[in-house]
Amino acid sequence: MIVCANFKANKTRQETQAYMAVVESFVSANGISDTVIVFPPFTALEHYGRNVLVGVQNAYPVQNGAFTGEIALEQLEEFGIETILIGHSERRHILGETQESIAEKFRFFAERGFAIVYCVGEPLEVREEGNDALMEYIDKQFEGIDLKYPDLIIAYEPVWAIGTGLTPSLRDIELIHGALRAKTSAPLLYGGSVKVDNAREIMALDNVEGVLVGSGALSASDFCSMIEQASELNTKKGE
Ligand code: 13P
Repeated sequence: MIVCANFKANKTRQETQAYMAVVESFVSANGISDTVIVFPPFTALEHYGRNVLVGVQNAYPVQNGAFTGEIALEQLEEFGIETILIGHSERRHILGETQESIAEKFRFFAERGFAIVYCVGEPLEVREEGNDALMEYIDKQFEGIDLKYPDLIIAYEPVWAIGTGLTPSLRDIELIHGALRAKTSAPLLYGGSVKVDNAREIMALDNVEGVLVGSGALSASDFCSMIEQASELNTKKGE
């Protein structure tokens, strides 16, 4: 299982340090073998422990240069960052990233061997048009993306489920993940209003190999509970 926390623009450097200390020691004390990734804000990057991977929520696809307000490969290398989130709906819809720029970012970081958590997901009006329209929409989000990239993880995050407390039914998650599985052998995460209370049943579904959690992971102890659930399920699913 792969359990990820996306902090978005939450937590200070100090808060992140305290959070990482809790999660690091939980993972180590419980011998967790699942992959745990935290995506903190840039200002909180540093070399943390060995048990929890740290990734970035974004970066500009260049070594360095005149790109005001961005950070690039050179700044990631300083902290040994080799994991990046690409295609998140907030970057697509709020920050205006186009599929073309997303694909360019994907190519750049794939060529440098990064682990890429690539996000896809439909807005509500598309979901309301039915499953064919939904899969067509997601197919467009795969334009320019190498679905055979070995270090690819895909996160299905319906836009209408992010930060709203709403989630698709378990059956719908399984349906979409089944359709995604037909396209790629990359691990598939679900994201969108995952909390301690629903993480277990979501991770237990077929073709769900983990979760990408926003607000529900801001508490370190809640995130640890979800890691524990993943590790228990891992044993069951592997039987
Ligand atoms: P929430 O868990 O807050 O709905 O956010 C999900 C998300 O966008 C993770 O990347």
